[in-house]
Amino acid sequence: MYLKKEELNSDLDLEQIKKILGRERFQHTLSVLKAALKIAEKQNFNLKNVETAALLHDIAKSKNERELKDMVKNSNWEPDRLELEITPVLHAPAGAVMAENIFGITDPEILEAIRFHTLGHPEMGGIAKVIYAADFISEDRYFDGLDEIRIEIERDFESGLYLITSHIIKYQLEQDNMIHPYSNDFRNKLLKRSD
Ligand SMILES: [Fe+2]
Ligand SMILES: [Fe+2]
Repeated sequence: MYLKKEELNSDLDLEQIKKILGRERFQHTLSVLKAALKIAEKQNFNLKNVETAALLHDIAKSKNERELKDMVKNSNWEPDRLELEITPVLHAPAGAVMAENIFGITDPEILEAIRFHTLGHPEMGGIAKVIYAADFISEDRYFDGLDEIRIEIERDFESGLYLITSHIIKYQLEQDNMIHPYSNDFRNKLLKRSD
């Protein structure tokens, strides 16, 4: 996917983002942006904010564990103790720190979307849900069952989100990984809704 500056609502500098992310992650980011806009258009969200959150969601992904921990320490987005032990999720709070400090983002909905895109959170808002879902169903991902989830996201967004949280938790259990309460609580909330 190639994207021209004039096709964007967001004022972000794409070259700067590409430089930080590297070519491959930038491509993933563009796939997430495309998926996010498709969901957001149907849901009537502020597309500029969705774009900004999508473009910056993985902005900290190239940083190493030490850098990530240093970034989030004493920040507005300090992770809890369990998150600090689940290293693959740390680029999310660190990404919110970079979005604030490097890109001057102040909108809490955008920052929250970056902050919780890995674990999810039961109280997260609409834009955060869009980014969480888009990161999972983006066109650069392939695995069994994903097409059914893509269809469900289109049919009923919240029900699709429930499938995503369930898939992630099942996968983490199979890998014998820790499950963060944010993810579990998010799934429980979506499950209750579908009763
Ligand atoms: Fe990520
Ligand atoms: Fe991502």
